Amino acid sequence: MPLPLLVALATYTSHARASPHIWPSPKLDALESARFDQFGFNAGIMPGFIQPCDSFLFADDTGRSNAADWIRTAYHDMATHSTTDGTGGLDASIRLDAEMDRPENAGDGFRNTFIIVSGVTNRYLGIADALALAAVVAIENCGGPEIAYRGGRIDAIEANTPGVPEPQQDLRSHIASFARQGCTQTEMISLVACGRVSLHSFGGVQHDPFPNIVDELNDPENTDDIAHFDTTFVHFDNNVATEYISGTTQNPLVVGFNDTTNSDKRIFGNDGNATMRSFADSPSLFTSTCAELFARMIDTVPSGVQLTDVITPLPVKPDNVELTMVNDTIRLSGQVRLWNTDQASAGTVGVLWDDHLGGQGNTTFAFAGTASSIGGKYNSVWYGFNAITPFGFIGLDAAAGIERFRFVVNGKLEDREGVGFEVQDAYMFSLTSCLYSLNGGEDPLRLDVAVRNDVNPTRIYAESLVFDGFGRPTIAETDIPRPDQPVAINAAYSLWSLNASAIDLGDVTIGAEIDGKRYSTVQRRSVLLFPSCDGGISGPTQPGQGLEL
Ligand code: HEM
Ligand SMILES: *[C@@H]1O[C@H](CO)[C@@H](O)[C@H](O)[C@H]1NC(C)=O
Ligand SMILES: *[C@@H]1O[C@H](CO)[C@@H](O)[C@H](O)[C@H]1NC(C)=O
Ligand SMILES: *[C@@H]1O[C@H](CO)[C@@H](O)[C@H](O)[C@H]1NC(C)=O
Ligand SMILES: *[C@@H]1O[C@H](CO)[C@@H](O)[C@H](O)[C@H]1NC(C)=O
Ligand SMILES: *[C@@H]1O[C@H](CO)[C@@H](O)[C@H](O)[C@H]1NC(C)=O
Repeated sequence: MPLPLLVALATYTSHARASPHIWPSPKLDALESARFDQFGFNAGIMPGFIQPCDSFLFADDTGRSNAADWIRTAYHDMATHSTTDGTGGLDASIRLDAEMDRPENAGDGFRNTFIIVSGVTNRYLGIADALALAAVVAIENCGGPEIAYRGGRIDAIEANTPGVPEPQQDLRSHIASFARQGCTQTEMISLVACGRVSLHSFGGVQHDPFPNIVDELNDPENTDDIAHFDTTFVHFDNNVATEYISGTTQNPLVVGFNDTTNSDKRIFGNDGNATMRSFADSPSLFTSTCAELFARMIDTVPSGVQLTDVITPLPVKPDNVELTMVNDTIRLSGQVRLWNTDQASAGTVGVLWDDHLGGQGNTTFAFAGTASSIGGKYNSVWYGFNAITPFGFIGLDAAAGIERFRFVVNGKLEDREGVGFEVQDAYMFSLTSCLYSLNGGEDPLRLDVAVRNDVNPTRIYAESLVFDGFGRPTIAETDIPRPDQPVAINAAYSLWSLNASAIDLGDVTIGAEIDGKRYSTVQRRSVLLFPSCDGGISGPTQPGQGLEL
């Protein structure tokens, strides 16, 4: 049988390649942030919705949780996969009414899930990647194992073929369904058990969508009439297995009053309880099995979809690095994250930079904040590119510019073995732009871009984030015309300008094609200093260091 060998090889290769990517790489940088900046400074908002793990955003229902909904949604989305024809898989097709409204997707947990998941997407994090991440974040932060996460899923625009297993179906059809999804019978038992335990006692079966399984409970603490899968609360553990083996389980899909819908009982007993017994005997086997199967679950995608390598945290990560041209000065702002350390160990944090003229500059950084990830397993510290305030900037001479920086952490050079962190200053936002009008909208808005005279871009364009008819985040590009005559800003840069009255400048970024490569600026954070069209705001004096809120 060549197949198991191939699978083994693929697994081996993926582990061997799991090393941090090279910054800057906008999509991977963004996936890394979404995946690892979970709580604290610069954190995304998604993990907050499962803190604590029994949080439930919708109505005042007790007994339900966002975390359980996210994991179930990820499974149901993936469960349409067919290993035969390569269709289906984790592609967020379940968000589409044609799929969500099918009987196999009973309940409102799916709709609830996308209210949060679709809200955290961005140009680099699509809906399916965000859904996969939601499951990972929920499992990891609610006591479960750390799960390998990759990006690159493609958001479906039509429903997949039905095929999610339902509790009233018989064992034969469940075996067939899991086989179609790519699971052996042992993996079927394992994945179902993992899906049950990762929820502790806050996942379960509700009376409303499943009246034949759960009776009305008449419990004021449990207004949704949820029958829970096991009795543990805080820790991810193998209680789903120990309680099943000892005959004390309350799992409504094992001991439900209606045997037709006792699907977990049929599945868990399928191998004479061997798999469940091995989980009851070994919590660590259970945990490692779940980590592997959850990763496979979210990586089950339609054929042709190319996932990224496993996203691993960058030990030293610059973020929000933003350059702004102001007269003769480039303002450089941003932050750097030091992974898995604390402020005392980080000591003094600073930066050296190389310019285009062979010179070097340096400064120390201001402490910005702490952050944590994966149930507090990792802590990190953030510093801002300014000695006084993390939201300030460093003023650079425009002619000298910047090529790369190297960080200095507690006296130790962090420059990736001499490679450094490359910074592009070929083009940048110019503060001569006017992005809003104070005169009742009379003045035309203008986006000004400073372009370095010794580079010759093929194109410069404004990028606006728009959501298409399927809710997918996409970028709309508006070309910025090359000026007929160069308009000098200073000795090294000249101006390209766009009459931007027709585009939303609130979250605009600037793209460029230079020597066949595409670049994109980060979204401007210095919102308060967006210039107005009556020339009112010019910002603090330069050169040197200043505050940019
Ligand atoms: C034969 C296979 C399966 C059947 C028949 C099944 C059936 C069910 C049913 C009837 C519910 C109750 C839903 C509700 O009351 O709204 C449920 C909940 C759940 N299922 Fe499954 N399931 C299966 C496999 C899986 C797998 C493989 C996973 C994940 C790996 C999973 C994850 C969940 C989660 C997290 C919940 C709790 C949702 C909540 O509390 O809001 N299920 N399942
Ligand atoms: C048991 O469940 C099946 C499938 O949902 C249903 O058809 C049947 O009426 C149920 N029996 C009882 C006693 O509720
Ligand atoms: C498997 O475990 C269940 C639940 O404890 C029990 O009812 C059943 O008899 C066991 N089956 C075997 C073959 O041991
Ligand atoms: C940092 O810059 C100052 C001048 O601004 C210079 O005197 C000093 O040598 C520099 N330090 C390093 C480590 O380059
Ligand atoms: C800018 O565009 C707006 C409409 O998009 C137009 O009304 C205005 O005349 C243009 N201004 C300039 C200076 O081209
Ligand atoms: C830039 O130069 C203009 C014209 O010399 C001046 O009015 C403005 O204050 C300068 N801006 C800054 C931030 O120094």
